[in-house]
Amino acid sequence: MIKELDVLGTFARDRDNLIPIFQAEQAKSGYLSAEFMESVADYLGISLSSTCGVATFYTQFKFSRPGDHKVKVCLGTACYVRGGTKICDEVSHQLKIQAGEVTPDYKFSLEGVACFGSCAQSPVVVVDRKVYGKMNAKKVKNVLKEYA
Ligand code: FES
Repeated sequence: MIKELDVLGTFARDRDNLIPIFQAEQAKSGYLSAEFMESVADYLGISLSSTCGVATFYTQFKFSRPGDHKVKVCLGTACYVRGGTKICDEVSHQLKIQAGEVTPDYKFSLEGVACFGSCAQSPVVVVDRKVYGKMNAKKVKNVLKEYA
């Protein structure tokens, strides 16, 4: 049975809309849930395995719920040589999760990523879209407090 989902209602039942539907849902919800994938398959008349096969082919799509606040620690070269891994370890310690995980309350998710293009500010942490430069372990706690 097809559930009424906002995103699906904005697209015609055309298989060519599969990727745009995924992109719209991810922009809205931050990920593609199992329930959403089933609804897409029903809506477009495609098997669930084909639907999932297409989605998993593209690395841009996420399949688990992210945290309300996405903490990204840069591990690019400039940040790495200036202590990026120590910053990542401190964020991990403060949030009690590893990179790629989400806190149990879904408040934060943590990712280690490549260069943000702010190397002059290295080491860099980005929370949601806000960039924090010249980071050190002591600053991590204060940055995270802003979102607690
Ligand atoms: S290497 Fe971290 S911002 Fe460029």
